[in-house]
Amino acid sequence: MNVGILTISDRSFRGERPDAGGPLIAQIVGDRLGWDCSLTAVVPDEFDHIRDTLMAWADADRAALILTTGGTGFAPRDVTPEATRAVIEREAPGIPEALRAASLIITKHAMLSRAVAGIRKHTLIVNLPGNPKAVRENLEVLLPVLPHAVELVRGDAGAEQGHRTV
Ligand code: MTE
Repeated sequence: MNVGILTISDRSFRGERPDAGGPLIAQIVGDRLGWDCSLTAVVPDEFDHIRDTLMAWADADRAALILTTGGTGFAPRDVTPEATRAVIEREAPGIPEALRAASLIITKHAMLSRAVAGIRKHTLIVNLPGNPKAVRENLEVLLPVLPHAVELVRGDAGAEQGHRTV
């Protein structure tokens, strides 16, 4: 399974701050699910950069799953959710609902995440916050459902389980 990891951060893009979130996601998803996390990029908090990267990766089927990190908050330049919404064809509201619900038990600041998730073609896209602590906490909730979610998006889960009737 190929995973794309997109870090969205002005400062990391300019080289002023190391990208902590992206490598952390790669380490956790690689270790726990054994998925290939070699497709990575760092872009600034710019709508066009985010949208174009998500579209390019999904349309070329370079990743079954794209995890973004950063840019989901309330700051004027936080536009990750808007760029993701511009790309997804079907929204998956249950994912950010679950992430926020679980995160709210840890910190009230979880309500400041505007993260969205959805599907474009055969790629599932999920926004995660930028802070490494928040990345870890969100992945704990997300990881257990990812294999089934991605199988469904790929369209082969039913066939594998013998559920397909037509
Ligand atoms: N979720 C968890 N689990 N833990 C956290 O510490 N931080 C919140 C929220 N979600 C947080 C969290 C904060 S402080 C913000 S501002 C939002 O995520 C958005 O973060 P982002 O702008 O880095 O994407």
